[in-house]
Amino acid sequence: MAYSDKVVEHAENPRNVGTLDKSDPNVGTGLVGAPACGDVMRLQIKVNDDGVIEDAKFKTFGCGSAIASSSLATEWLKGKTVEQAEAIKNVDIVNELNLPPVKIHCSVLAEDAIKSAIEDYRKKQEARAAAVQSSH
Ligand code: FES
Ligand code: FES
Repeated sequence: MAYSDKVVEHAENPRNVGTLDKSDPNVGTGLVGAPACGDVMRLQIKVNDDGVIEDAKFKTFGCGSAIASSSLATEWLKGKTVEQAEAIKNVDIVNELNLPPVKIHCSVLAEDAIKSAIEDYRKKQEARAAAVQSSH
């Protein structure tokens, strides 16, 4: 199977590989697995007080397309609001990377990881708001 140049480029030079501090209430962590192949992706966002994602990191244990999808996703996430990030669809990734049909689930993994990171971030924010309320 021929991979597009962009997939190869991202897979060989992934952007934003790493870890953000999970104990930071502004950090949301998404951890998802692909049932189709067992690959695992962890994606984290750090949101500033204006609701803008100022940092994003990932770690993907999986195929080149999954690594490329998460690398691209972290690039797209930076500078977006949480709402804008939520609107990122796996088809956007498929189109940008020219993924073949058998690799579409790799991009779904990235979309799921984004959603899961946002959900975690929101839960932490709610927990923090509740803690602030009860301390008054
Ligand atoms: Fe082999 Fe995903 S199926 S790495
Ligand atoms: Fe399963 Fe890419 S994530 S083959």
